Amino acid sequence: MKKILFAVVAAVLVAGTVFAGPGADSKGAASGTFVGIAMPETHVLRWIKDGASLKKFAEAKGFRAQDQYANADQNLQNTQIQNFLTQGAKAIIIGCVNDGVAAAVADAARDKVTVVAYDRIIPNSADYDYYITFNNFKVGQLQGQGIERGLNLKSATAAAPKYITLFAGSPTDGNAFFFYDGAMSVLNPYVESGALIVVGPYPKTSKDTANFQRIATENWQAAVAKTRMENLLNGDAKDVTLDAVLAPNDTLARAIIEACKADAKYASKLPVVTGQDAEAASAASIKNGEQYMTVFKDTTKLAEAAILLAEAAVNGTTPNIPGAVLASSIGLESIGDTGKKVVRAYLLDPVIIYRENWRDPVNAGFYTQEEIDQNNLK
Ligand code: BGC
Repeated sequence: MKKILFAVVAAVLVAGTVFAGPGADSKGAASGTFVGIAMPETHVLRWIKDGASLKKFAEAKGFRAQDQYANADQNLQNTQIQNFLTQGAKAIIIGCVNDGVAAAVADAARDKVTVVAYDRIIPNSADYDYYITFNNFKVGQLQGQGIERGLNLKSATAAAPKYITLFAGSPTDGNAFFFYDGAMSVLNPYVESGALIVVGPYPKTSKDTANFQRIATENWQAAVAKTRMENLLNGDAKDVTLDAVLAPNDTLARAIIEACKADAKYASKLPVVTGQDAEAASAASIKNGEQYMTVFKDTTKLAEAAILLAEAAVNGTTPNIPGAVLASSIGLESIGDTGKKVVRAYLLDPVIIYRENWRDPVNAGFYTQEEIDQNNLK
């Protein structure tokens, strides 16, 4: 009994030094606390960078951290989350694959573990409170503006229309709907005036589910987009020359450009192709005049913000996320709507990148030296 009492007192004393208020330990309650980092995939390169940044920021705060990647397989990600729970995680940062994650998030809530939805909303769940992402509607608007500029749509007329074909991201990813709706909020008026003609399916918004499915790219797979582009070039777009392709991210943009390059019609002039993520290979493509634009989302800042959120939740304090706005404060609460609850969604600001400012992400320290060297981004 005495031994047990001693152990309890000792444990309380140790906990007391670790968890004492500010001043006792600069890393506060974070010391040694375990944080799990569950990223969705590696075929879109940004997630490797995200996972590494999250781990770095977590460790800088004194957390223990582990990053795992799910290969676009929700069952695998749920197993990874279960492992984090078994290891006693106090917070889990999740960039989910699809809504199948809700079951694992419910288990986390049962164990009183904080879940932060990272970049992608966790749909159909009422079991978490925080979501950190970018203004995803604006990401789409920037893509629409890129096309508006690239095709000089403001001066286009129905007498001499421009031709576009549309791609969307994965229908399993809530972001894909915001990206698309943001882009179409810019482009629809030109379609309505006849200055822009859509070749292939035309969902006016993502709510046109049947047509959205036809332009969507399951799990953001480049091969799926490439094949669809090849089919368009030999089918719906056979008798026109496309002026633009709305591509939702860089991985898909480069696959679409590859398909266009194999078609003699586009040998001397590629369509204006949009993107997102400022991947190093796309920065090189923009620099070389192939891909027209991308959207730079500084995911280093996103990762830092996610760790600040996790830290505040673990410490029971109010989060203060520099540079982020609450979605509800700018009328975008729908970004935080899981279908079962509206969570607090913090939004960071995306930046448009054209050939003239391709260097912005380099200047922001976004690329590793290896990426800079491999893609000649000097
Ligand atoms: C992210 C994009 C990314 C896409 C594919 C989206 O949820 O916001 O940055 O390109 O997933 O991984």
